[in-house]
Amino acid sequence: MINRETIDKIMDTARIEEVVGDFVHLKKRGTSLIGNCPFHGEKTPSFHVSVTKGIYKCFGCGKGGDSVRFIMEHEKYSYPEALKFLANKYNIEVEETVESVQDVEAQNARESLYIVSQFAANYFEDQMWNSQEGKTIGLSYFKERGFREDILKKFNLGYSPDVWDALTQDAVKNKHAEEFLEKTGLAIRNDKGKLYDRFRGRVMFPIHNFTGRVIGFGGRTLKTDKNVPKYVNSPESEIYHKSNVLYGLFHAKKAIRDQDNCYLVEGYADVLSVHQANIENVVASSGTSLTIEQIRLIGRFTQNVTILYDGDAAGIKASLRGLDMILEEGLNVKVVSFPAGDDPDSYMHKVGAGAFKTYIEDNRKDFILYKANILLAEAGNDPIKRAGIIRDIVESIAKIPDNIKASVFIRECSSLLQIEERVLLSELNTMRAAKLKKASAPQGRQQYQQHPDMPPADFLADDYEPIVEIPTSDEDKEQEMEILRLLIAYGHELVYWDETDNMYIGSFIMQNLTDVVFKSGLLDRIIKHYWDSIEKGSLPTINTFIHNEDKDVANVSINVTTSPYELSPNWENRHNIYVRHESGHLKKTILDGIYYLKKKKIGEIKKKVVNELKTETDPVNIDIILNKCILIKRVEMSIASYLGNVILE
Ligand code: UTP
Ligand code: MN
Repeated sequence: MINRETIDKIMDTARIEEVVGDFVHLKKRGTSLIGNCPFHGEKTPSFHVSVTKGIYKCFGCGKGGDSVRFIMEHEKYSYPEALKFLANKYNIEVEETVESVQDVEAQNARESLYIVSQFAANYFEDQMWNSQEGKTIGLSYFKERGFREDILKKFNLGYSPDVWDALTQDAVKNKHAEEFLEKTGLAIRNDKGKLYDRFRGRVMFPIHNFTGRVIGFGGRTLKTDKNVPKYVNSPESEIYHKSNVLYGLFHAKKAIRDQDNCYLVEGYADVLSVHQANIENVVASSGTSLTIEQIRLIGRFTQNVTILYDGDAAGIKASLRGLDMILEEGLNVKVVSFPAGDDPDSYMHKVGAGAFKTYIEDNRKDFILYKANILLAEAGNDPIKRAGIIRDIVESIAKIPDNIKASVFIRECSSLLQIEERVLLSELNTMRAAKLKKASAPQGRQQYQQHPDMPPADFLADDYEPIVEIPTSDEDKEQEMEILRLLIAYGHELVYWDETDNMYIGSFIMQNLTDVVFKSGLLDRIIKHYWDSIEKGSLPTINTFIHNEDKDVANVSINVTTSPYELSPNWENRHNIYVRHESGHLKKTILDGIYYLKKKKIGEIKKKVVNELKTETDPVNIDIILNKCILIKRVEMSIASYLGNVILE
């Protein structure tokens, strides 16, 4: 067992923002840091890290905890494994007390796979630099291809001798169990029960996970024989899951974050060459088509991906569709294509590092426009083909979760394809509507039925982008606070609509807020906290808020639920009257609260839209804005009919 002093030291040293920051791209928002949650797929960040409290919390999936918990969840480590991971990160020496044999074995099984993988990497590296065969065959191969020594060393490249069981023998001699050689796939057992090496006579590319540990290998043959597979790769193992590994990420992650962009290439060789051109923010999907996990992995470091393509047109076309997946994850995609016949690797060696870098910077194109251009060129003047292209392009645009971004592309494609924006927009809306219909699963927030008494919720439905952005004035703060007060004070009470129908006030209010974007970050947090509880099947009580570990939450809760009366000497009397009065009309109080907030919100939206209308000159846009106006009017009317005032305009 790891002793107490060591644990304390780890806890004192590990900084939550650094620990989480290794895995999640964090941005500063107010006093906390936010990012996209690594535990569930999301496009808008609801993952919060509190530096002062040393904890993380996702308001989307509910996961939360401290640094150790994060590593346990994220890396699927046990508690001691997570502690060791952090100790290693901060160079803290781990002192252990003796533990049972079973404990050691269980913990050490995975660790042993890492250890034997690292051993093999060292072995291959040593072979390449120090053995006769390694130098004359492996090293000279890399040198002939123009790779610099520092690059070979940086990526720990190596050579596996052309011998039946060179590695296996050396590993066994060094007390590595055969079991682990087999489990990592470094060795294979033949029919006669004898172990032999998987990689023989190949140059070796160790694959690191993004914390830098060796988890697998790719071995390239040096033969030109067509019958020999060019690469042999490690199989999946307990430590190597191909679909969520990107080659080079460990060496690239800092640069990806600094540059806020990730170059994506196809092969190991491309990663090396791009590095050699002093571009370090590059990773490879390594032959397999890009997976959603890999895209999300990139998304933790940056929202911008630039694909470096080789110049072969057929290959480009085939991969275009795969890229929609990146758009769907909300990332921005750019592409650079190389002259026909060249890939990033060959082009870098052809023109040199400097020219390569310039080329990349000058030839970066936005993916959608690039795609449109390629397809257009291919279609020529064939009208049927051109119609197909429109669908194809709009389909890509429809994948972009951000409406504003999507509308920019619609505009650009409209001029590129020489098609009216309106036509593209209507195509886009049709596709989106179809998608939404398909996606609306009976789950989470959507499972709640619309209550007949419920205020209109159609102007900012949760799954749609707001039809317009809410302006940032503080005007509706009062209304927001009123909602908060009702939620905290009465959330766990039942409201009776009639004899057969009742419902908790908290649930009712929450249902009615799915379409409202709050201005106050704190309020937003409380609402998310509330959702969290509801989705777990419980309603927070007033105490949950007042004694909340989040000081801000506690403070605001205390403030909104204590009226000024409280301070006066005859508080009890007056407060009771007030409360009794209020709870007597609870249903009305709640509906009032909700309607007034909605009235405020829609009022702001309307102001903004009216302003847009004043300045807009493009008839197509005017059309869109007018449609928004109609929608707003409808919402306004239903609010007014509840509140009993008529809108005259
Ligand atoms: P490439 O053939 O482009 O390989 O395949 P490369 O890395 O650029 O190698 P060079 O330039 O020929 O030396 C791209 C990637 O596809 C995977 C490897 O990950 C490779 O880096 N691949 C390719 C395989 O896994 N097996 C193969 O047989 C071929
Ligand atoms: Mn290549």
